[in-house]
Amino acid sequence: MNNDIETVEQEIKGFKISNTDELEAFRLKYLSRNGLIPELLSNIGKAPREQRAELGKKLNALKNLAQNKFENAQQKLQSKGTGEIVATDDITLQAPSMPLGSYHPITQSLNEIKSIFLRLGFTIADGPELEDDFHNFTALNFPPEHPARDMQDTFFIRKNVDNPHDDLVLRTHTSPVQIRLMENEKPPIRAIMPGRVYRNESITAKSYCLFHQVEALYVDEHVSLAELKETLIILAKMMYGPDVKYRLRPSFFPFTEPSLEMDVWWGSKDEGQWLEILGAGMVDPNVLKAVNIDPEKYSGYAVGIGVERIALLKYQINDIRLLYDNDLRFLNQFK
Ligand code: DAH
Repeated sequence: MNNDIETVEQEIKGFKISNTDELEAFRLKYLSRNGLIPELLSNIGKAPREQRAELGKKLNALKNLAQNKFENAQQKLQSKGTGEIVATDDITLQAPSMPLGSYHPITQSLNEIKSIFLRLGFTIADGPELEDDFHNFTALNFPPEHPARDMQDTFFIRKNVDNPHDDLVLRTHTSPVQIRLMENEKPPIRAIMPGRVYRNESITAKSYCLFHQVEALYVDEHVSLAELKETLIILAKMMYGPDVKYRLRPSFFPFTEPSLEMDVWWGSKDEGQWLEILGAGMVDPNVLKAVNIDPEKYSGYAVGIGVERIALLKYQINDIRLLYDNDLRFLNQFK
């Protein structure tokens, strides 16, 4: 091991760093997590006990040598821009360019969904993430104490220690924004409502405690199921291309009747699975009544899209947690 240390030391001293690529190559080879120095450090434990202290000292010196060389070269390169190291400073040189970031894949998917609906004539509306029971559940036709409330594991926020009936909730879906919108505006209403939602679920590759939805609502005279289906098919084709493989399945939601879900095929032609991307349906007459819209005169459709699902499919990501790790190695792939 002593020999290894000396060889590496000579190598480091001789390593030529004259541009940012070489700087990165140097870092990767010696200093990164899988680099030579961490590897040598992790091998100390295998050396005979009496040699370990001595080896530790030498390796630390080696690490400092590499670190200093790296930092010096980095400073020189930065003060110069991105090109070659020069001996003299030229104060007329342009400042170094800042590395460009990129939009997070969730933001990219959100933007894409928004732009599709904007082109279909929808506007964008917004609502609070901290909701009351009425908007999150009751007005959406979840009767009090009804088991349908268990469809969504809810984070409750106790406002008043003595009175659990005042509890607020972190909204479990964006559907409450439908209610707020219909309370404030009369039909025709055609809007999407993007936002964050929260569920008290265990965190796995497929589910997370917070995620994003885009709600869509269209209420007017004579809005039909056929229009809803057409809108969903347009959405799928604009998002995934004209050949996308999709299916609509009957489903149940308290606030729509009839209700359906849309799945998109994930995988190759012969191998893969259906992935659900949205729920939808015709607005239940009880919901219209709760906001004083006459269900005899008006009808509507509603859609709730899972943004993470759209992103996972679009970018073929197999673990939702990657979207929340903020790991640059992952994020840099979305420039
Ligand atoms: N709010 C539902 C959920 O989070 C999704 C949903 C289904 C929204 C059907 C809708 C709808 O607007 O019509 O599970």
